[in-house]
Amino acid sequence: MPRIKDKVALVVGASSGIGHATAKLFAAEGAKVVVGARRKDELDALVSEIAAAGGDAVALAGDVRSEDYAQALVALASERYGRLDIAFNNAGTLGEKGPSTGISAAGWNDALAINLTGSFFGAKHQIAQMLKNGGGSVIFTSTFVGHTTAFPGLAAYAASKSGLIGLTQALAAEFGPQGVRVNAVLPGAVETEMYREANDTPETQAFITGLHALKRIARAEELAHSVLYLASDDSSFVSGTAHLVDGGLSITRS
Ligand SMILES: NC(=O)c1ccc[n+]([C@@H]2O[C@H](COP(=O)([O-])OP(=O)(O)OC[C@H]3O[C@@H](n4cnc5c(N)ncnc54)[C@H](O)[C@@H]3O)[C@@H](O)[C@H]2O)c1
Repeated sequence: MPRIKDKVALVVGASSGIGHATAKLFAAEGAKVVVGARRKDELDALVSEIAAAGGDAVALAGDVRSEDYAQALVALASERYGRLDIAFNNAGTLGEKGPSTGISAAGWNDALAINLTGSFFGAKHQIAQMLKNGGGSVIFTSTFVGHTTAFPGLAAYAASKSGLIGLTQALAAEFGPQGVRVNAVLPGAVETEMYREANDTPETQAFITGLHALKRIARAEELAHSVLYLASDDSSFVSGTAHLVDGGLSITRS
Protein backbone atom coordinates (compact mmCIF):
# COMPACT_ATOMS: atom_id res chain seq x y z
CA MET A 1 0.00 0.00 0.00
CA PRO A 2 1.60 3.32 -1.06
CA ARG A 3 2.16 5.50 2.00
CA ILE A 4 1.44 8.95 0.50
CA LYS A 5 -0.98 7.98 -2.26
CA ASP A 6 -2.47 10.98 -4.12
CA LYS A 7 -0.69 13.48 -1.88
CA VAL A 8 0.98 16.44 -3.57
CA ALA A 9 4.59 16.90 -2.53
CA LEU A 10 7.20 19.56 -3.21
CA VAL A 11 10.92 18.69 -2.98
CA VAL A 12 13.38 21.59 -3.14
CA GLY A 13 17.03 20.71 -3.72
CA ALA A 14 16.01 17.69 -5.78
CA SER A 15 18.67 17.75 -8.50
CA SER A 16 21.04 15.46 -6.59
CA GLY A 17 21.70 13.67 -3.33
CA ILE A 18 19.10 13.42 -0.57
CA GLY A 19 16.47 15.49 -2.39
CA HIS A 20 16.81 13.44 -5.59
CA ALA A 21 16.37 10.16 -3.71
CA THR A 22 13.44 11.57 -1.73
CA ALA A 23 11.60 12.82 -4.82
CA LYS A 24 11.87 9.35 -6.37
CA LEU A 25 10.67 7.66 -3.18
CA PHE A 26 7.75 10.08 -2.78
CA ALA A 27 6.66 9.31 -6.36
CA ALA A 28 7.06 5.56 -5.82
CA GLU A 29 4.88 5.90 -2.71
CA GLY A 30 2.06 7.46 -4.70
CA ALA A 31 2.63 11.22 -4.47
CA LYS A 32 2.50 13.71 -7.31
CA VAL A 33 5.79 15.55 -7.02
CA VAL A 34 7.00 19.06 -7.87
CA VAL A 35 10.80 19.18 -7.95
CA GLY A 36 12.98 22.27 -7.66
CA ALA A 37 16.70 23.19 -7.61
CA ARG A 38 19.05 25.29 -9.72
CA ARG A 39 20.03 22.74 -12.39
CA LYS A 40 17.29 22.36 -15.02
CA ASP A 41 18.83 19.44 -16.92
CA GLU A 42 19.13 17.30 -13.78
CA LEU A 43 15.55 18.13 -12.79
CA ASP A 44 14.23 17.27 -16.25
CA ALA A 45 16.09 13.94 -16.12
CA LEU A 46 14.54 13.24 -12.72
CA VAL A 47 11.03 13.99 -14.02
CA SER A 48 11.65 11.57 -16.93
CA GLU A 49 12.94 8.91 -14.55
CA ILE A 50 9.85 9.25 -12.35
CA ALA A 51 7.53 9.15 -15.38
CA ALA A 52 9.28 6.04 -16.74
CA ALA A 53 8.61 4.32 -13.41
CA GLY A 54 4.90 5.19 -13.69
CA GLY A 55 4.94 8.30 -11.48
CA ASP A 56 3.84 11.88 -11.97
CA ALA A 57 6.25 14.81 -11.51
CA VAL A 58 6.94 18.29 -12.81
CA ALA A 59 10.04 20.49 -12.46
CA LEU A 60 10.77 24.18 -12.11
CA ALA A 61 14.39 25.33 -11.85
CA GLY A 62 15.36 28.36 -9.79
CA ASP A 63 17.32 29.71 -6.87
CA VAL A 64 15.97 29.45 -3.31
CA ARG A 65 17.48 32.85 -2.50
CA SER A 66 14.55 34.33 -4.43
CA GLU A 67 11.19 34.53 -2.67
CA ASP A 68 9.57 34.67 -6.12
CA TYR A 69 10.91 31.17 -6.76
CA ALA A 70 9.38 29.86 -3.53
CA GLN A 71 6.05 31.33 -4.57
CA ALA A 72 6.31 29.96 -8.13
CA LEU A 73 6.94 26.39 -6.90
CA VAL A 74 3.80 26.48 -4.74
CA ALA A 75 1.80 28.04 -7.59
CA LEU A 76 2.94 25.21 -9.87
CA ALA A 77 1.82 22.57 -7.34
CA SER A 78 -1.52 24.28 -6.97
CA GLU A 79 -2.14 24.83 -10.70
CA ARG A 80 -0.98 21.39 -11.79
CA TYR A 81 -2.25 19.24 -8.91
CA GLY A 82 -4.73 21.44 -7.03
CA ARG A 83 -3.18 21.38 -3.54
CA LEU A 84 0.00 20.93 -1.49
CA ASP A 85 0.32 18.35 1.30
CA ILE A 86 4.05 17.82 1.77
CA ALA A 87 7.04 20.17 1.39
CA PHE A 88 10.68 19.14 1.81
CA ASN A 89 12.97 22.19 2.02
CA ASN A 90 16.29 20.49 1.44
CA ALA A 91 18.41 22.86 -0.68
CA GLY A 92 21.64 23.60 1.09
CA THR A 93 25.23 24.72 0.83
CA LEU A 94 28.28 24.32 3.04
CA GLY A 95 28.95 28.02 2.48
CA GLU A 96 32.29 29.64 3.06
CA LYS A 97 34.55 27.47 5.18
CA GLY A 98 37.67 28.34 7.15
CA PRO A 99 38.68 30.33 10.20
CA SER A 100 35.76 32.46 11.34
CA THR A 101 38.01 35.49 11.79
CA GLY A 102 38.51 35.46 8.00
CA ILE A 103 35.03 34.71 6.76
CA SER A 104 33.69 37.28 4.28
CA ALA A 105 30.38 39.08 4.68
CA ALA A 106 29.31 37.67 1.29
CA GLY A 107 30.20 34.10 2.32
CA TRP A 108 28.36 34.40 5.60
CA ASN A 109 25.30 36.00 4.03
CA ASP A 110 25.13 33.40 1.26
CA ALA A 111 25.02 30.48 3.70
CA LEU A 112 22.24 32.18 5.63
CA ALA A 113 20.39 33.13 2.43
CA ILE A 114 20.35 29.59 1.02
CA ASN A 115 20.12 27.44 4.14
CA LEU A 116 17.93 29.53 6.41
CA THR A 117 16.17 32.39 4.59
CA GLY A 118 15.52 30.28 1.49
CA SER A 119 13.93 27.58 3.63
CA PHE A 120 11.82 30.22 5.38
CA PHE A 121 10.63 31.68 2.05
CA GLY A 122 9.67 28.15 1.05
CA ALA A 123 7.74 27.38 4.23
CA LYS A 124 5.99 30.77 4.18
CA HIS A 125 4.34 30.07 0.83
CA GLN A 126 3.93 26.33 1.33
CA ILE A 127 2.10 26.77 4.62
CA ALA A 128 -0.17 29.46 3.14
CA GLN A 129 -1.25 26.89 0.54
CA MET A 130 -1.51 24.04 3.07
CA LEU A 131 -3.86 26.14 5.21
CA LYS A 132 -6.21 26.32 2.21
CA ASN A 133 -6.30 22.55 1.90
CA GLY A 134 -6.60 21.59 5.56
CA GLY A 135 -3.01 21.12 6.69
CA GLY A 136 0.17 19.32 5.70
CA SER A 137 3.73 18.38 6.60
CA VAL A 138 6.76 20.65 6.19
CA ILE A 139 10.26 19.21 6.58
CA PHE A 140 13.57 21.09 6.68
CA THR A 141 17.00 19.56 6.20
CA SER A 142 19.20 20.65 9.10
CA THR A 143 22.25 18.67 10.29
CA PHE A 144 23.98 17.38 13.39
CA VAL A 145 26.59 20.12 12.81
CA GLY A 146 25.82 22.95 15.19
CA HIS A 147 23.27 20.86 17.09
CA THR A 148 25.04 17.94 18.72
CA THR A 149 28.51 18.36 17.23
CA ALA A 150 30.78 21.25 16.26
CA PHE A 151 33.67 21.37 13.81
CA PRO A 152 36.13 24.27 13.48
CA GLY A 153 35.73 26.22 10.23
CA LEU A 154 32.03 25.61 9.66
CA ALA A 155 30.48 28.53 11.56
CA ALA A 156 28.23 29.80 8.74
CA TYR A 157 26.95 26.31 8.02
CA ALA A 158 26.37 25.53 11.71
CA ALA A 159 24.61 28.83 12.42
CA SER A 160 22.35 28.67 9.38
CA LYS A 161 21.43 25.03 9.90
CA SER A 162 20.80 25.28 13.64
CA GLY A 163 18.65 28.31 12.87
CA LEU A 164 16.40 25.89 11.00
CA ILE A 165 15.70 24.07 14.25
CA GLY A 166 14.41 27.26 15.87
CA LEU A 167 12.36 27.93 12.75
CA THR A 168 10.96 24.39 12.92
CA GLN A 169 9.80 24.92 16.48
CA ALA A 170 8.34 28.39 15.82
CA LEU A 171 6.33 27.25 12.80
CA ALA A 172 5.21 24.01 14.45
CA ALA A 173 3.81 26.01 17.39
CA GLU A 174 2.21 28.63 15.17
CA PHE A 175 0.49 26.34 12.68
CA GLY A 176 -0.08 23.15 14.67
CA PRO A 177 -3.61 24.26 15.59
CA GLN A 178 -4.45 24.35 11.85
CA GLY A 179 -3.07 20.90 11.10
CA VAL A 180 0.37 21.76 9.76
CA ARG A 181 3.21 19.64 11.17
CA VAL A 182 6.77 20.97 10.90
CA ASN A 183 9.91 18.92 11.53
CA ALA A 184 13.63 19.04 10.77
CA VAL A 185 15.64 16.02 9.69
CA LEU A 186 19.26 15.99 10.90
CA PRO A 187 21.38 13.64 8.76
CA GLY A 188 24.78 12.31 9.71
CA ALA A 189 27.21 12.10 6.81
CA VAL A 190 25.54 11.02 3.57
CA GLU A 191 27.24 9.92 0.34
CA THR A 192 26.38 12.92 -1.90
CA GLU A 193 28.06 15.69 -3.90
CA MET A 194 28.16 17.88 -0.80
CA TYR A 195 29.83 15.15 1.26
CA ARG A 196 32.48 14.60 -1.41
CA GLU A 197 33.11 18.36 -1.63
CA ALA A 198 33.49 18.67 2.14
CA ASN A 199 35.58 15.50 2.56
CA ASP A 200 37.83 15.27 -0.47
CA THR A 201 40.63 13.05 0.83
CA PRO A 202 40.65 9.40 1.99
CA GLU A 203 41.88 10.64 5.38
CA THR A 204 38.99 13.01 6.02
CA GLN A 205 36.50 10.42 4.75
CA ALA A 206 37.93 7.82 7.13
CA PHE A 207 37.77 10.32 10.00
CA ILE A 208 34.12 11.21 9.32
CA THR A 209 33.11 7.58 8.81
CA GLY A 210 34.72 6.65 12.11
CA LEU A 211 32.64 9.19 14.02
CA HIS A 212 29.46 7.24 13.35
CA ALA A 213 28.56 4.43 15.74
CA LEU A 214 27.63 2.35 12.68
CA LYS A 215 31.13 2.95 11.22
CA ARG A 216 29.77 3.89 7.83
CA ILE A 217 28.05 6.87 6.25
CA ALA A 218 24.49 6.83 4.92
CA ARG A 219 23.16 6.34 1.42
CA ALA A 220 20.84 9.10 0.25
CA GLU A 221 18.03 6.54 0.01
CA GLU A 222 18.26 5.90 3.77
CA LEU A 223 17.59 9.57 4.43
CA ALA A 224 14.72 9.51 1.95
CA HIS A 225 12.96 6.85 4.03
CA SER A 226 13.23 9.01 7.15
CA VAL A 227 11.84 11.99 5.27
CA LEU A 228 9.00 9.80 4.00
CA TYR A 229 8.20 8.92 7.62
CA LEU A 230 7.99 12.63 8.54
CA ALA A 231 5.94 13.37 5.43
CA SER A 232 3.41 10.57 5.85
CA ASP A 233 0.67 9.89 8.37
CA ASP A 234 3.03 7.40 10.04
CA SER A 235 4.30 10.48 11.93
CA SER A 236 0.86 12.03 12.49
CA PHE A 237 1.68 12.99 16.12
CA VAL A 238 5.24 14.19 15.42
CA SER A 239 5.79 17.94 15.15
CA GLY A 240 8.44 20.46 16.15
CA THR A 241 11.20 17.84 16.33
CA ALA A 242 14.87 17.80 15.40
CA HIS A 243 14.88 14.27 14.02
CA LEU A 244 18.40 12.79 14.08
CA VAL A 245 19.20 10.26 11.35
CA ASP A 246 22.91 10.12 12.04
CA GLY A 247 24.01 6.51 12.40
CA GLY A 248 24.81 7.15 16.05
CA LEU A 249 27.28 9.97 15.35
CA SER A 250 25.94 12.16 18.11
CA ILE A 251 26.28 9.53 20.84
CA THR A 252 29.93 9.05 20.01
CA ARG A 253 30.61 12.80 20.04
CA SER A 254 28.62 13.97 23.06
N1 LIG B 1 25.63 15.00 2.64
C1 LIG B 1 25.75 15.14 3.94
O1 LIG B 1 26.64 14.54 4.57
C2 LIG B 1 24.78 16.02 4.69
C3 LIG B 1 24.76 15.93 6.09
C4 LIG B 1 23.86 16.73 6.80
C5 LIG B 1 23.00 17.58 6.12
N2 LIG B 1 23.04 17.65 4.75
C6 LIG B 1 22.11 18.55 4.08
O2 LIG B 1 21.37 17.82 3.13
C7 LIG B 1 20.86 18.71 2.14
C8 LIG B 1 21.03 18.07 0.79
O3 LIG B 1 22.42 18.00 0.48
P1 LIG B 1 23.08 16.72 -0.21
O4 LIG B 1 24.03 16.16 0.74
O5 LIG B 1 22.06 15.87 -0.82
O6 LIG B 1 23.99 17.47 -1.31
P2 LIG B 1 23.78 17.82 -2.83
O7 LIG B 1 24.84 18.81 -3.14
O8 LIG B 1 23.69 16.58 -3.64
O9 LIG B 1 22.33 18.53 -2.88
C9 LIG B 1 22.13 19.89 -2.59
C10 LIG B 1 20.89 20.33 -3.34
O10 LIG B 1 20.60 21.69 -3.02
C11 LIG B 1 20.46 22.43 -4.21
N3 LIG B 1 20.81 23.82 -4.03
C12 LIG B 1 21.94 24.33 -3.46
N4 LIG B 1 21.90 25.66 -3.48
C13 LIG B 1 20.73 26.02 -4.06
C14 LIG B 1 20.12 27.25 -4.38
N5 LIG B 1 20.71 28.43 -4.10
N6 LIG B 1 18.90 27.25 -4.98
C15 LIG B 1 18.29 26.09 -5.29
N7 LIG B 1 18.82 24.88 -5.00
C16 LIG B 1 20.04 24.85 -4.41
C17 LIG B 1 21.38 21.73 -5.19
O11 LIG B 1 21.06 22.07 -6.52
C18 LIG B 1 21.06 20.27 -4.85
O12 LIG B 1 19.86 19.87 -5.47
C19 LIG B 1 21.60 20.03 2.32
O13 LIG B 1 20.73 20.96 2.93
C20 LIG B 1 22.74 19.67 3.27
O14 LIG B 1 23.13 20.75 4.05
C21 LIG B 1 23.91 16.88 4.03
